[in-house]
Amino acid sequence: MVRINPSILAADFANLEREVARISNADYVHVDVMDNHFVPNLTFGLQMVQRLQEVSATPLDVHLMIDDAERWAPEYARTGAFSVTFHAEASEHPVELARTLRSLGARAGIALKPGTSAEPYLEQLSEFDQVLVMTVEPGFGGQSFMLSMMPKVRRVRAAIDAGALGTWLQVDGGIDERTIEIARDAGADTFVAGSAVFRAVDPAAQVELLRAAAGGHDH
Ligand code: DX5
Ligand code: ZN
Repeated sequence: MVRINPSILAADFANLEREVARISNADYVHVDVMDNHFVPNLTFGLQMVQRLQEVSATPLDVHLMIDDAERWAPEYARTGAFSVTFHAEASEHPVELARTLRSLGARAGIALKPGTSAEPYLEQLSEFDQVLVMTVEPGFGGQSFMLSMMPKVRRVRAAIDAGALGTWLQVDGGIDERTIEIARDAGADTFVAGSAVFRAVDPAAQVELLRAAAGGHDH
C-alpha cells in the first residue's frame, strides 16, 4: 500500500485551508513543525496545527523538527492529529514517548536525520507505527534527494519484514516522480513530497502521478 503525503511547507502559508483542499486526494497532509533550534528554520506551532486540524478534511501527519520532544509531542497528539513523528535526536526516551502518543490516540513515528543510524531502533520497531528516514537534512524544502540513504531504508524494511510488523516506512525530502521509484524499490511505502506537489500546476494530478510512479511493486 502506497501513501502520498504532500508537505504544506511548499504551500501558500497565507491560504492553508485552500491549499489542503487542493490535495484532497492525498492520503495525509504532512505538516512540518520547526522551532529554529533543532533545525535552522521556523514554521508552524501548536495553535496553527490545532486550527489546521479543524479545517482539513484530510488527516494530518505531523513531523516535529523541534527540541524537547517529550515536552511537545503529546500536545500535538492532543490536537487530534492522525500521526505525530518526533526526531530520535530530540528525544531522551523514544519508546516511552511513543507509548504516550499512542495512549493519546495518535500514531507514533520516529524520524532519523541522515547522520543517525537506524541500528539502535531496529529492535524496538514494534513500539512505533512509522519510521521516517530523512532523505535530506531537515529544515528546508526543495533540496536534492540523498541516494546514500537507501541502505538505511533497506535495513529498516528488512527489520519490519523480519518481525512481520505493520510499521510504515516513510521517506521525506527530494521526492519526485523519479526518486519515488528509487525509494519504493528500497522499501519505503509512505512518501512525503513538498515542492513536487505544490509547485505543480495541478497539485492533485501530481499526487496521482506520484502514486502511479510508486505503485510498481508490493512489499
Ligand atoms: C524538510 C521537510 C520536508 C520538506 C520536503 O525538512 O521535512 O517535509 O517539506 O520538501 P521537498 O519535497 O521539497 O524536498
Ligand atoms: Zn517533513
